[in-house]
Amino acid sequence: MNAKVNISNRAGASFPVRRMDFEFGEVPRYWANGDAALTHFMTALSALFPEGEQFFVNSTRAVRNDPKLEDQRLQKEISAFIGQEAMHSKEHLAFNASAQAYGYDVRELEAQTGRLINRTIGVASKVLKPFGFSKEMIGLTGTCALEHFTSTIAEELLSNPDIQAMFMDQTMYHLWMWHAIEENEHKAVAFDVYEAMYGQGPKAYFMRSLALVIAMGLIFITQSYFTAKLLRTDGKLTWHDTKYMIKFMYGYKGFMTRQIPTLLDFLRPKFHPNDQDTTALLNKWRAELGFNLS
Ligand SMILES: [Fe+2]
Ligand SMILES: [Fe+2]
Repeated sequence: MNAKVNISNRAGASFPVRRMDFEFGEVPRYWANGDAALTHFMTALSALFPEGEQFFVNSTRAVRNDPKLEDQRLQKEISAFIGQEAMHSKEHLAFNASAQAYGYDVRELEAQTGRLINRTIGVASKVLKPFGFSKEMIGLTGTCALEHFTSTIAEELLSNPDIQAMFMDQTMYHLWMWHAIEENEHKAVAFDVYEAMYGQGPKAYFMRSLALVIAMGLIFITQSYFTAKLLRTDGKLTWHDTKYMIKFMYGYKGFMTRQIPTLLDFLRPKFHPNDQDTTALLNKWRAELGFNLS
């Protein structure tokens, strides 16, 4: 793997924090199936991560000293979750910088993501405050919804050989597979924090259902807009240049289309992230990537 890996097992947490240091200098311009639109689709996702994952960390930190979260097991999970997300932010920032070197203004897309998150949380806090929903609750429920999105996409990456074949570049393959493993390792942490804080009653259920609908809508619009912006830089914002990606992602049995039932499973009142058991899949992939200390 074109990365230094340093695994620090956080005592007591059910998953470790792996300190990665990928080298993106040799990544080709169109590393996803040699296709501009497919590559930009993934880069647009990557542009969402640094600010998005910082938001997850901030939202969890904002509540972690609450007496309802004094359970030491959960506190250790929170520490490891924050450690993993901080590392994802760092490595996606480094990859995004390598795309910037090809002339794509990914820094601006990262900044737009940060502004969108702040604005959304600001507006939602104002609108929902009279109904008894705090800013902390809104931040955390947004984190839960987005974590469901990332773990769903990640499970597909780990399960589908056709998708894995898209990664023609080994560094990009390892970046996304490492990230996918960890999204599934920590998929229940924000949700467990949310339930410990706000319970499983109608108010908590309403808030997380609303958060999923808003989060999925915003992700779809923002990520599509970013993909279009990156394609425009190349002068490739045409049907001819995008049809392969659109079919790959949104066609019948496309990568994103296939996720819809799993994404909607979050709306089940008794939903819990661990209902979807990924233990065997994770063991297989940890061995595959040489993360045997995990
Ligand atoms: Fe992440
Ligand atoms: Fe995550």
